[in-house]
Amino acid sequence: MAVLIEAGFPVVVLDNFSNSDPSVISRLERITGKTIRCVRADLRDRVALIATLKAHGVTDVIHLAGLKAVGESVSQPIQYYGCNVQGTISLLEAMQETGISRLVFSSSATVYGDPHYLPLDEAHPTSATNPYGRSKLHIEEMLRDVARSAPDWHIVCLRYFNPVGAHPSALIGEEPSGIPNNLMPFVAQVAAGIRPELQIFGGDYPTPDGTGVRDYIHVMDLAEGHLAALRYLVDHPGWEAINLGTGVGYSVLEMVSAFEAASGRAIPCNRVSRRAGDIASCYANPERAQRLLNWHAKRGLEDMCRSTWAWQQERRSLS
Ligand code: WQD
Repeated sequence: MAVLIEAGFPVVVLDNFSNSDPSVISRLERITGKTIRCVRADLRDRVALIATLKAHGVTDVIHLAGLKAVGESVSQPIQYYGCNVQGTISLLEAMQETGISRLVFSSSATVYGDPHYLPLDEAHPTSATNPYGRSKLHIEEMLRDVARSAPDWHIVCLRYFNPVGAHPSALIGEEPSGIPNNLMPFVAQVAAGIRPELQIFGGDYPTPDGTGVRDYIHVMDLAEGHLAALRYLVDHPGWEAINLGTGVGYSVLEMVSAFEAASGRAIPCNRVSRRAGDIASCYANPERAQRLLNWHAKRGLEDMCRSTWAWQQERRSLS
């Protein structure tokens, strides 16, 4: 959001705040110095959605609304398909009704399933091993059909690898409710003394140190990737899938060491059995993003950990 506003794009936010705190809007206003138009509504509320698109003269949509916890999706598939797939259908109907045809969709590297080869490029076969990944795959396929149905659709699916980090102001960042599912916020909470130790899921993977390897990408690089995709869409009708990753994989142990260095705090760890559904390694071939969007990730592991730690400390004073 901040990146778009700072690039001069007028932005309106529509969010049901089911997995975020409305106070983020006032903090975004502090960062940008601009008033941010925000509508509290669910994507499936077509009346509110169409009214918002019309009232604000929307020309392009960045669709980030969705549930994203792999484990939760296994126990609550109806909620995941309802929110992610049904919500996207509602958005597409509203866009069609209001004549908007440019869309950036927040997809995920989970559509690649268990990698057949690495690094992962966009030609890699897609599959899903859980309802979350399947919902993203269903949406990508729906969007491909929509783009084929009429020449005026311009659609880009951005396949995120592992987003981490926080805004340099330390005013906005990841705010998982309850026990964090993901590595980075959990490590940050161990460093802050909120959690006693990190459980490392599996130490016997076929990786250099036996722990899982992922392509962590700074959220600010991710945001700049969306700006680049928005600019790309203007002259490129059709459908594209583009990886947003750094192309570099780090193991859990490497992440822990980097966070200890960035925070100056020790991270007690305990190796336990593998987590169901986890894969050994996953990292991107980022060449297509460079070629099509003239975008590549610029921020390294140290900045990812340092910004996360700064946000973790600031967050406690904000709450
Ligand atoms: C990373 C590594 C774990 C927690 C996530 C999201 C998914 C998607 C991609 C957006 C793995 C290990 C983790 C812990 C650990 N996001 N780990 N102890 O599994 O790659 O998937 O990012 O589309 O929604 O689930 O990320 O951060 O959960 O795990 O050892 O307490 O850290 O085994 O190797 P993952 P993650």
